[in-house]
Amino acid sequence: MFNFRQGNGHAAGIFLAGIPEETVVWTANRDDPPVSNSATLLFTGDGLALPTAESQNYFAKSSGSASYASMLDSGNFVLYNSGREIVWQSFDHPTDTLLPSQRLLSGDELLSAKSEADHSTVPCRFSRHPSYAYYASSTFGAGENVTLNLGADGHLYLLNRTGSNIRNITDGGLPTDEGKLYLMRIDADGIFRLYSHDLKKDAIWSVVWESSKDKCVPKGLCGLNSYCVLIDLQPDCRCLPRFESVDQGNPTSGCEGNFVADACKNRNENFTYTMEELESTTWENVSYMSLRLSGKNDCIQGCLEDCNCEAAFFDGTNCRKLRLPLRYGRRANGTSDIALIKVGVPKPDTDRRIVQPGSKKKGRTDILSICLSFTALIHFIVDFRDCVVETQCLGIYKNECCEWWP
Ligand SMILES: *[C@@H]1O[C@H](CO)[C@@H](O)[C@H](O)[C@H]1NC(C)=O
Ligand SMILES: *[C@@H]1O[C@H](CO)[C@@H](O)[C@H](O)[C@H]1NC(C)=O
Ligand SMILES: *[C@@H]1O[C@H](CO)[C@@H](O)[C@H](O)[C@H]1NC(C)=O
Repeated sequence: MFNFRQGNGHAAGIFLAGIPEETVVWTANRDDPPVSNSATLLFTGDGLALPTAESQNYFAKSSGSASYASMLDSGNFVLYNSGREIVWQSFDHPTDTLLPSQRLLSGDELLSAKSEADHSTVPCRFSRHPSYAYYASSTFGAGENVTLNLGADGHLYLLNRTGSNIRNITDGGLPTDEGKLYLMRIDADGIFRLYSHDLKKDAIWSVVWESSKDKCVPKGLCGLNSYCVLIDLQPDCRCLPRFESVDQGNPTSGCEGNFVADACKNRNENFTYTMEELESTTWENVSYMSLRLSGKNDCIQGCLEDCNCEAAFFDGTNCRKLRLPLRYGRRANGTSDIALIKVGVPKPDTDRRIVQPGSKKKGRTDILSICLSFTALIHFIVDFRDCVVETQCLGIYKNECCEWWP
């Protein structure tokens, strides 16, 4: 427990001792400034204080007065009052990892870390919650207070409020002899995995189960106006045609057009607009208008003639018009959907400077930013009634619809 390197500084938390690979399972105040490497913990009446240069912070703050603390073999750090009752435990405040015997309550969440080396979350300027989940627990009708549980044998399962097993995510039954360790973590890439470790073999953590083998599946991995393509099983972010990365050094930063977007007010006379095609991709399904059209060219023409239209999806029957930015894009081989993107081409007599990067009008990319911390699956189906039922919608993320991903 306690002090480990994080980014350029140190963080305090719990890591598994005695294994070669440093494995952090819980981080205190993970988004606070780093603590000094000589920081000390102070047992006070209401928990464990962690004084930092700037402030007095808490490693663990109990609801009632704390008399003693204990680090349990399970990895749970517990504060007790004088009556031996638990007044705080790290298992109740999960960060990105669940350990055997730990449970995640409905409404709690696991948030992925920024990277393997930095256990803070990605700062999110707007909503912390992506409105679409890529993984759903598919326990519709289970009611409130469902919990996610990890058993000693690697069994990951859901219990309803009365304690009945309503779904097995993994089968369990893995060896539980001494030296075998398991943990479940939502990783920095947004996929949650069950890992095992064999102390006797001095092994590394190996993946027993993962929510997806396709690393493009977590939504929001690539920023706005960009889509994810797997290259040798690794995700790569690509820009829409004639779009450029917002931040060249950061492929997940999203992309913006290197032209002035079409606009209904003051249509820019220096550009002509054409539609670029992008085949075999899927995107978030939000359109302001859907038309039944039999031909792609009609869809192209319809978007070009509509100053509100910045992109369209054509599936052979329906032409769905959209505004930018596009989100959650990924290559989907086998789909017949064509994404059509309206791009501006400067007229020949136009001052070329207006299309130089830097002088281009900033797109809305700056305003909307996708949150790159992924939230784990536990937002159970509470109530279906407020949900706009599309075929994809099976779960509810608090009161928002969440998308089913098989
Ligand atoms: C769920 O848990 C909360 C808090 O413990 C409780 O108030 C509520 O009644 C529970 N709901 C059901 C349906 O049991
Ligand atoms: C989950 O697996 C256990 C056996 O490990 C079984 O008893 C239980 O019925 C399963 N639950 C569901 C919902 O299938
Ligand atoms: C179009 O180009 C001309 C000449 O370069 C420039 O003066 C004018 O401001 C441009 N119009 C718009 C709307 O940018």
